[in-house]
Amino acid sequence: MAGGKPRLLHSTSFLAGTANLQLCSAEDSVSDREKRAVVFGLANKRSIAWAIARKLQEAGWRLALTYQNERLEQEAKDLITDLPGASGFMCDLGSDEQIARLFEELKNGFGTLDGIVHSVAFAPPDAMKGEFLNTSREAFRIAHDVSVYSLIAVARAAAPLMTEGGGIVTLSYYGAEKVTPHYNVMGVAKAALEASVRYMAEDLGKKKIRVNAISAGPIKTLAFAGIADSRYILKWNELNSPLRRTVTQNEVGNSALFLLSDLGSAVTGECLHVDAGYHVVGMKAEDAPDIAVVPKHEPSA
Ligand SMILES: NC(=O)c1ccc[n+]([C@@H]2O[C@H](COP(=O)([O-])OP(=O)(O)OC[C@H]3O[C@@H](n4cnc5c(N)ncnc54)[C@H](O)[C@@H]3O)[C@@H](O)[C@H]2O)c1
Repeated sequence: MAGGKPRLLHSTSFLAGTANLQLCSAEDSVSDREKRAVVFGLANKRSIAWAIARKLQEAGWRLALTYQNERLEQEAKDLITDLPGASGFMCDLGSDEQIARLFEELKNGFGTLDGIVHSVAFAPPDAMKGEFLNTSREAFRIAHDVSVYSLIAVARAAAPLMTEGGGIVTLSYYGAEKVTPHYNVMGVAKAALEASVRYMAEDLGKKKIRVNAISAGPIKTLAFAGIADSRYILKWNELNSPLRRTVTQNEVGNSALFLLSDLGSAVTGECLHVDAGYHVVGMKAEDAPDIAVVPKHEPSA
């Protein structure tokens, strides 16, 4: 996880950002000037991070996007190139050194930040099979380090650049609240993530920085495909959520934009469910067919 330096993809867009900064007068309100955000967790075009980045970009935000490693670099680069004005960086959030270097580069390039999107999670695959009781100490550590501590580390590094306040959004899942099949240690990590959001909201509120989570319904992404029976989970949500459907990356993107923008200016410490209402349901819907219609062992995603 630890290692090399965060790598900048498009240094010219940083220069454009700096020039833009100089055009802003001291009297400009936060809503009048261009906002800047860094989005963590781009793997491919299905990533929730990518949908959020596109929504922010459409709303006029200038963005830095990060991807984890060389394996994801080419796909991330191709996507970021299509996002006007965006810059790309490689940054493994398991490394304090890489986080520190990234924010040094962001300080030099953007100067200030208004938003952070943390769309990152990982647990060793073996820990998401079988019984939760068998979670190893190391799997527990890794899941919490990458999926929870990384939010704290990133927020601490970002806060000095968020001079006019702003918003931080992370991604959670219903498995934080209720037992869901195979989610195991990731459910416990998401519970810790949601609790961290509340504690961070208190610490950072004094700096006018709001911290919120979105608890998204299941969506076909790289991370989700790694969960056993993911098709079954998707179908169950579709049949039993009050809206009788699943949710899209774009819908999560819209909600992230709301939370990060001035529209969400009084919302902090919140976990907003963007799940077609699934979290309010206590039993199978009366009109839902027997779930056996979904072959249990069909390949996922
Ligand atoms: N897809 C869903 O159904 C769903 C539902 C609710 C919440 N979420 C959450 O949304 C977030 C994004 O997941 P996604 O579904 O878009 O899948 P994804 O696989 O596209 O994104 C997960 C990202 O985490 C990154 N990551 C993992 N370890 C990292 C590390 N050490 N350093 C830096 N980055 C690292 C991966 O590289 C990847 O870009 C995750 O927190 C996930 O738990 C997803």
